[in-house]
Amino acid sequence: MQALSANTLREILNSIIGYLGGIGIDNPSLNAEILMMGALKCKRVSLHTDYGRCLTGEETEYIWRLVQRRASREPLQYITGMQGFWSLEFKVTPDVLIPRPETELLIEEALKVVSGQLAVGSCANRKLVTANYLYPCPLILDLCTGSGCIAVTLAREIPHAVIYATDISESALEIAKENAKMHGVLDRIKFIHGDLFNALDPKPLTPDPISFDIIVSNPPYIRTKDIENLEPEVKGFEPLEALDGGRNGLDVIRKIIEKSHIYLKKDGILMFEIGAGQAVNVMKLFESSFNYKGISIIKDYSGIERVVKAQRI
Ligand SMILES: C[S@@+](CC[C@H](N)C(=O)[O-])C[C@H]1O[C@@H](n2cnc3c(N)ncnc32)[C@H](O)[C@@H]1O
Repeated sequence: MQALSANTLREILNSIIGYLGGIGIDNPSLNAEILMMGALKCKRVSLHTDYGRCLTGEETEYIWRLVQRRASREPLQYITGMQGFWSLEFKVTPDVLIPRPETELLIEEALKVVSGQLAVGSCANRKLVTANYLYPCPLILDLCTGSGCIAVTLAREIPHAVIYATDISESALEIAKENAKMHGVLDRIKFIHGDLFNALDPKPLTPDPISFDIIVSNPPYIRTKDIENLEPEVKGFEPLEALDGGRNGLDVIRKIIEKSHIYLKKDGILMFEIGAGQAVNVMKLFESSFNYKGISIIKDYSGIERVVKAQRI
């Protein structure tokens, strides 16, 4: 496709669909529609009701540039700058991982813990129950926050939660802060830059570490050697530090298991996302730590073991 020679909305849409389909982009119709909606700032229905409208040269040029970006395998979400997660929209740039639907399982599980749907804690803890919440004002740590999708969603869903969110990437934290501001929860999330728990290291005047009710994380967990086999959209555009979990994919997970008990209250909950096939090795890491009980694995809607949950002894 040299350039978009067609000029009505429908002709251009059809030529983009033909072009993207011809170079092997999956679901070219949806891609073309999303690019057109983004470029023309219109709703999907307008693409079909205004199909006879002639686009200006400027509009056509702009759409063409977006189509070229998609043809180079840049993810649609980086082109449009947004991704839906839970019921919210998040700003995304190549500084952050694009939030995935399977990560919503972590949100579901965290909400179950907070609302007391899960048998956690002793009878003494259960005295904390007020209204529908087992933890009415939970203090939550989101390690590896990226776009902030987990921290922001939990802050929106749990009105009295206070959340700490950390990441090793300063540029990711900037996006996370923008997302927190966009969703009105910036005042309840403390964003801290640093390598996992180092971000929380006790300061000289407050020697005790902060104790959280819940630690949640979607860490990088892909084996280094598997990265080259990922889709071009992922390996070519998403940040490597968001993907690479080291030789067996467990580098960051191991550190989270090793140290979380120091930062959790007694009976507090650690939960994090894992990759397909990692559950057995993750269970072994928990077993050798002796700091947790009630370790369980939750499958996602595709039947893949996706979330690990454990309680601090
Ligand atoms: C898989 S992404 C998850 C992002 C987001 N929580 C989500 O679910 O979409 C992992 C994130 O961990 C961050 N990260 C990687 N290593 C880290 C470390 N040692 N300490 C803190 N953050 C780290 C990356 O910068 C990236 O933002």
